[in-house]
Amino acid sequence: MLPTVATTRYVTPLREGGSLPGLVEADDLGTYVVKFRGAGQGRAVLVAEIVVGELARRLGLRVPELKLIDLDERIARYEPDEEVQDLLRASIGLNLAIDFLPRALGYDGVSFRVDPVEAGRVLWLDALVGNVDRSWRNPNLLVWHGELWLIDHGAALWFHHRWPSGPRDPRHFAETPYDASDHVLSPHLSSVPAAAAALAPLVTRELLHDVLSQVPDQWLPSPPDQATAEHLRGAYVEHLLARLAAAQSWLPVAA
Ligand SMILES: Nc1ncnc2c1ncn2[C@@H]1O[C@H](COP(=O)(O)OP(=O)(O)OP(=O)(O)O)[C@@H](O)[C@H]1O
Ligand SMILES: [Mg+2]
Repeated sequence: MLPTVATTRYVTPLREGGSLPGLVEADDLGTYVVKFRGAGQGRAVLVAEIVVGELARRLGLRVPELKLIDLDERIARYEPDEEVQDLLRASIGLNLAIDFLPRALGYDGVSFRVDPVEAGRVLWLDALVGNVDRSWRNPNLLVWHGELWLIDHGAALWFHHRWPSGPRDPRHFAETPYDASDHVLSPHLSSVPAAAAALAPLVTRELLHDVLSQVPDQWLPSPPDQATAEHLRGAYVEHLLARLAAAQSWLPVAA
């Protein structure tokens, strides 16, 4: 599992985030952007954040460090903003902490030149995990100390939202095409084949199991058949391996 820290202070909500993430201080003296378990989007988006973020990191892309963060009931009690207080009360216990990159700028496609090799790798990863949240309108890329950082992967791995009755046949996700036309890095589509050649061989069953082992058991979707956490982790691994094997169905190509 990811390392765990404890909340010492809720600083302020990040109003630009749809799920009302908050800026939080923790007992390791770190400052984090926290995505709360009690937000309307549910726990599945936190699973996607961990799986895609940790996969990206293992493939050499930059993702702010992820941790679990415990939220004590007393911190919720002293929050004056009612909307925030409701969110904190619904999130007592473990939440997701993302290392805060101070004064990072949002990528705008103009003031920062992306390395084409890196751009191709981000496009390939987003296509693999079905991430639709890297558009011009909402790039979810930060520029910090002259480098590109990836954030906000909650919308990826959409197949798990269909799991209230248990994991399904991985083929549907595996073969769903990826529309990169709206992707903020789409000018670099010609770099995708080289990215695929470099990264696909790294995504082994072992690596995916390591990534899934970072997710806390209680956040995994819990279907009525009482599938064990290991069974659910295995289902994520199978979905991703099946998608890798079906790359001809989804690999985005330059027009
Ligand atoms: N680690 C970080 N360091 C600095 N700023 C961050 C970090 N994570 C998020 N932000 C800022 O907070 C904003 C919201 O974060 P994020 O996109 O992850 O939240 P969200 O609720 O999923 O938002 P939305 O769904 O609206 O895109 C980002 O656009 C960025 O400006
Ligand atoms: Mg976002």
